[in-house]
Amino acid sequence: MKRRQLLRHAIALPAALPGLASSRALAAIQGGPRVAFGIAAQTRQLLTDPGFRDAVVRECDILTPELEMKWGFVEENQGSANLAPADQMSNFARRFGKRMHGHALIWHKSTPDWAASQMMTNPDWRIIDAFIQRIVPRYAGVVESWDVVNEPFADNGRPDGLRVSPFLTAFGPDYIRRAFERARSLAPTAKLYLNDYGFLYDDSESEARRTAALRLLEALKKHSVPVDGLGIQGHVDLERTGTFRQETFARFLKSVADMGCAIRISEFDVREHETAIPVEQRDALVADATAAVLDVAADCPALVSVTCWGLSDRYSWLPLPSETAGLNRGLPLDSDLRQKPMYRALMKALRR
Ligand code: XIL
Repeated sequence: MKRRQLLRHAIALPAALPGLASSRALAAIQGGPRVAFGIAAQTRQLLTDPGFRDAVVRECDILTPELEMKWGFVEENQGSANLAPADQMSNFARRFGKRMHGHALIWHKSTPDWAASQMMTNPDWRIIDAFIQRIVPRYAGVVESWDVVNEPFADNGRPDGLRVSPFLTAFGPDYIRRAFERARSLAPTAKLYLNDYGFLYDDSESEARRTAALRLLEALKKHSVPVDGLGIQGHVDLERTGTFRQETFARFLKSVADMGCAIRISEFDVREHETAIPVEQRDALVADATAAVLDVAADCPALVSVTCWGLSDRYSWLPLPSETAGLNRGLPLDSDLRQKPMYRALMKALRR
């Protein structure tokens, strides 16, 4: 992708919403955020929690369904089609002028049991094809980008760093090409992403994952497989921030961008461990970790958006070590929907 195309992708903001005093709108007046801001949410949260829904409408440009487009959710039993929640979210997005990111077509953890066992015993690409065909065209007008393959890397002893999943066992590494080509044929204008975690830290585990990702992207590009970019999940772990080095991460981002790939930070949040310290201190640690990662990302011209895996701690998927410790405070708004230092660190990075 050319730099100009990347920028166009980045600045296609939704129409302003009349009557909403949006801090995003304010930012736009003040020179405009360069990078779009997204969040993952569940339809149920949007439909049953008006305060949360208003915060989503006010704050975000792009919505990602946390569950509702996953294969196991849509087709728990072969032939079933639980699409109402995804339909409701896409209607919500249309109504409020939000862009949508589809998540995720191929993911070992969201593969229904029946499909995983069929792949292991009697591999038939048609079951995967049927799911992609069911979901991709249905949301063509509103989903502008897809995670086509999610979490393909793992330390499973393979030199290519690929995860030994039912997809790999059944179809070999070629499942990746097939999925991207099918998605492209059904969504000619959507941006198609490879998405994974574990690229952040300056240790041998992250280094191996970065190398595997760069090699795979290079091979896909070489064979003209229609991959538009890399989603870097960006789940930050406060226990590991000591091994985060901005130079290492920046170098990785540059290598991805140099291949003509767009970059999304796709599932940003911060996992806490220490809860026996004052809340202000916890929030400062979360904000510092956010700034450390996102300032580097925002300096990369290939970055098109940052999505947090949730907007408010109220619905964080991250557990704390003890149930009595309350909620993990690793999202931009607290459980009362108040902006935290993390929110300000995030917005500052997006406007860099
Ligand atoms: C998670 C959801 O947040 C949970 O509610 C669900 O139980 C499991 O999936 N990487 C991904 C996301 O790509 O789809 C995951 O979402 C979080 C890790």
